[in-house]
Amino acid sequence: MRLNAYLARCGVASRRHADELVKAGRVRVNGRVGELNTYVGPGDLVEVDGERVEPEPLAYVLLHKPAGVLTTARDPRGRPTVLDLVRHPSRVVPVGRLDADTTGALLLTNDGELAHRLAHPRYRVDKVYEVEVEGEPSDAALRRLRRGVELEDGRTAPARVRRLGPSRLEITIHEGRKHQVKRMCAAIGHPVVHLHRARYAGLSLEGLAPGEWRALRPPEVAALARLVGLPR
Ligand code: URA
Repeated sequence: MRLNAYLARCGVASRRHADELVKAGRVRVNGRVGELNTYVGPGDLVEVDGERVEPEPLAYVLLHKPAGVLTTARDPRGRPTVLDLVRHPSRVVPVGRLDADTTGALLLTNDGELAHRLAHPRYRVDKVYEVEVEGEPSDAALRRLRRGVELEDGRTAPARVRRLGPSRLEITIHEGRKHQVKRMCAAIGHPVVHLHRARYAGLSLEGLAPGEWRALRPPEVAALARLVGLPR
């Protein structure tokens, strides 16, 4: 894997920050100064500032994200982030994003390949949202959501939509565009009042109160890998 990805797996830094370390000449691979395009394999000796670094074990965490917490690693304005909640020994990062006011299931991992595939619409990973909207959408409005609605960045893919109550919907999508569910609902004239992701890739929040997290069990990790066609 590329040197920046390897350093991220070692928990040294994010890929972007790892590139800075490499450019600064602080990283050696088998005794030679590493370059941005250096590839690293299992037998290679990698050192940062003269200290050997090694990959951390792969870790997978499910968080019940509460409202008011950002899905970023660090906020320059010092607001609370999901990483303040998930005190995991490995350097896990969120897969995709939930808005600050959105609650629900958020996966964090240091498994870059799995994260990349889960976030890619090609693998059609189900994201199930419970949505409270303004007003009472008609059957015709729900059909529009199901067919796909025109947004400024293009038409949305077909969605599964179920009515949970007069102003409450369950919407299942595979895409992960910015503010997608809010923009879809606004487009049919029913802005979102509250958004909660009840399930992500088949993982539910059962047993997790807002703010709580747990490590995934090995069969759950295996199921995720199968879902996106990764041999494990
Ligand atoms: N869609 C949104 O609009 N916001 C989220 O947080 C997730 C999906």
